[in-house]
Amino acid sequence: MRARARPTGAAEKGGALTLASRRARNNGSQSGRRLCVAFLTVTSVPALGQASALDPAGAEASSIATLFWAMVVGGALLWLFVVSLMLYGIRRRRRVHDEWTAGRLIFWAGAVFPVVTLFLLLGYALWLMPQLRPWAPAQAAATLRIEVEGRQFWWRAVYHRPGDQPVVTANEIRLPVGERVEFTLTSSDVIHSFWIPPLGGKMDMIPGRTNRLSILATKPGTFRGPCAEFCGASHALMAFSAISMEPEAFRSWLAAEAGPARPQPSDGARLFVENGCGACHTIRGTAASGEVGPDLTHVGSRLMIGAGTLPNTEEAIARFIAEPDVVKPGSTMPPFRMLPETEIRAMAAYLKALQ
Ligand code: CUA
Repeated sequence: MRARARPTGAAEKGGALTLASRRARNNGSQSGRRLCVAFLTVTSVPALGQASALDPAGAEASSIATLFWAMVVGGALLWLFVVSLMLYGIRRRRRVHDEWTAGRLIFWAGAVFPVVTLFLLLGYALWLMPQLRPWAPAQAAATLRIEVEGRQFWWRAVYHRPGDQPVVTANEIRLPVGERVEFTLTSSDVIHSFWIPPLGGKMDMIPGRTNRLSILATKPGTFRGPCAEFCGASHALMAFSAISMEPEAFRSWLAAEAGPARPQPSDGARLFVENGCGACHTIRGTAASGEVGPDLTHVGSRLMIGAGTLPNTEEAIARFIAEPDVVKPGSTMPPFRMLPETEIRAMAAYLKALQ
């Protein structure tokens, strides 16, 4: 009682002190509130929409989500137990335990209980591991393989179909539901990391190395795949759309994607050639055959442009052509803001029409 009364008495003596203590208390509650908001933000991020690992749409992601919840429950039980022990320790009426009781308490609650709980959680995690990183099936040659190459700051994707020509595209990964797909992951510059949270775990893309990842989508949906390894100025702007589709729809999409672009002759098409865009970008079916930037053969049909940076509209494409250095700092595409706006718009219309 005395200990609690002391600061109040001291505060009453001087107005300045009262103000200071009130301010301290306000600061305390404010920073507490801020901490609370920060905690809620951080904990709710994995639960958000298209990139949620807790709303799985794939076999591996389901196992990861199950493991996550098992760990949360296990961790919460341990925490509750430790807090109860602490409350027991600081209880009002303390009574000294005899040595035998204290020894038993330390043995059971301090050694046996945590070892058993942690052992169970670890055992469960190890048992789950083969499901988190399954190998591609032995008859891998018969299945679809998607080769994805990370580049600063976009994704080059090549679909290898058994017994057919590979299909090159960029910044959008589509895969059939219910069929295991094998990914081979590489990088041509720095380390990136390939991750579709609702479908499976992440895997690094390392220069000079090919990593393999196998994914089985179980539900159709549209997801966001962020680059999960810091790779430079626009790391946070390096993402792709991942779309799991019914197998029939997937096959007709891939067949269409394999075909060349069929552009109408237009000012935009002419300007694209005249400005040298074809030196960096490929548009199959035209003279543009550059390999430096993303393949644009069917760019108009993608959900996003600039590797998950802007929605795919004429307006956004025009903006990207004019100022890629602003939209995506550090990207190798030079800005074309010196061109008249009408010309930029004509090129944007041409690209949007490449369905
Ligand atoms: Cu690529 Cu981060």
